[in-house]
Amino acid sequence: MTAARQRILSGAKPTADSLHLGNYIGAVRQWVDMQSQYDAVFFIPDLHAVTVDFEPGELARRTRTVAAQYIAAGIDPEQSIFFVQSHVPEHAELAWVLNCITGFGEASRMTQFKDKSAKAGADAATLGLFAYPTLMAADILLYQADLVPVGEDQRQHLELTRNLAQRFNARYGNVFTVPDATILKATAKIYDLQNPTAKMSKTGESPNGAIQLLEDPKIAAKRIKSAVTDAGTEIRFDADAKPGVSNLLTIYSTLTGRSVAELEEAYAGKMYGHLKVDLAEVVVDFLTPLRNRTNELLEDPAELDRLLARGAERARAIASVTLANAYDKMGFLPRAGR
Ligand code: AMP
Ligand code: TRP
Repeated sequence: MTAARQRILSGAKPTADSLHLGNYIGAVRQWVDMQSQYDAVFFIPDLHAVTVDFEPGELARRTRTVAAQYIAAGIDPEQSIFFVQSHVPEHAELAWVLNCITGFGEASRMTQFKDKSAKAGADAATLGLFAYPTLMAADILLYQADLVPVGEDQRQHLELTRNLAQRFNARYGNVFTVPDATILKATAKIYDLQNPTAKMSKTGESPNGAIQLLEDPKIAAKRIKSAVTDAGTEIRFDADAKPGVSNLLTIYSTLTGRSVAELEEAYAGKMYGHLKVDLAEVVVDFLTPLRNRTNELLEDPAELDRLLARGAERARAIASVTLANAYDKMGFLPRAGR
C-alpha cells in the first residue's frame, strides 16, 4: 500500500516582463525539483498583482510570459496543476469567507501590509492590499495543501493561513488541512552583479546587475563579464570578504551541479577573467534553450491559453469541492444543482 503523496502549492506574481536568474535559482528550480515527488499545484496570482499599482495593458501579456517561462523552465502542466488565479473564481469566494473570520487587528499586524501601505500612502493603500493575506490563505486552503514552499518574506502570511484554517475548523467543523511552510533554502540567494551585497531583483539600480531570463544571451554574457569582483586575485568562496566572486561561484555551481569546492580547486591560480569567461559560457548555454522554448510557447498563445484553461479546469475540480464543503459547514442554503 502506498500512502497518498503530500500536496505542495506555490505561486509567483506576474509583476515584471521577465523572471530573472535570482527567481530561477531561488524559486522556480526548486519547484521543478519538487514536482516529481509531490502532488504539485502551481499558479500565477494575478488577483494579487492588482493589489498595488499595475498596468492594465500589460497584465495579460505578463501573465502569459510568466506562464511560458515556468513551463520552459520545467514545470510540467500535465504532471502538475498549473493555472491562473483569476480563472478559478473560488479563490475570491473563499477569501471572502476568510475575511469574515480574520480580526482587523490581526490583519493590521502583517508586516508586508505595513511596509507596502506606508509606501503607497493611506489613500492609495486599498482594502484589496489589506486583504492580500486572506486571499493568499484561500489560495492555499482551497487545495488542502500540506506544504507551501515560499521565501522567508512570506512566513507571516503562512502563519496567518494556519491560524485561519484552525479557527475555521474549530468554529464550523473540520474542512481545511493546516499547511506547513517550507521556507526555500537561503543558500540559493543570488546577488546583484554590480552591487553584490544587494539581492538580484526586478528593481536593482543598474540593468547590468540582473540577468533577465528572456534577454539576449549575448547581453547576459556581457553582464557576467562586467560583474563587479573584489580586490585581490584569489578565486575563493568568502561571502563577507569576496561577495562578488562568491556570487559568481554560487551561480556557476547551481547551473552546472559542480560543487563550490570543486570549482575553487579547478580555478586555483587562475584569474577572475578566466572564471568570468567560463561562467559567461555556462550562462549562455543555460539561457539559450530556455529563451528559445519560452519564445516558442509565446508564439502560440492559443496553445498556451489552452494549457492554462485545462489547468484551471483541474484546479476548479478540487477548489469547488472545498468551497462547497466550507459553505455547507457554515450553514448557507445550498444552491440548487451544486
Ligand atoms: P519576487 O520576484 O521577488 O516576487 O520573487 C519570486 C521568488 O523568487 C521568491 O520565492 C523569492 O524567494 C525568489 N527570489 C527573488 N529574488 C531572488 C534572489 N536574488 N535570489 C534568490 N531567490 C530570489
Ligand atoms: N504572496 C506570494 C509572494 O509574493 C505569492 C502568493 C500568492 C503565494 N498566493 C500564494 C505563494 C499562495 C504561495 C502560496 O511571493
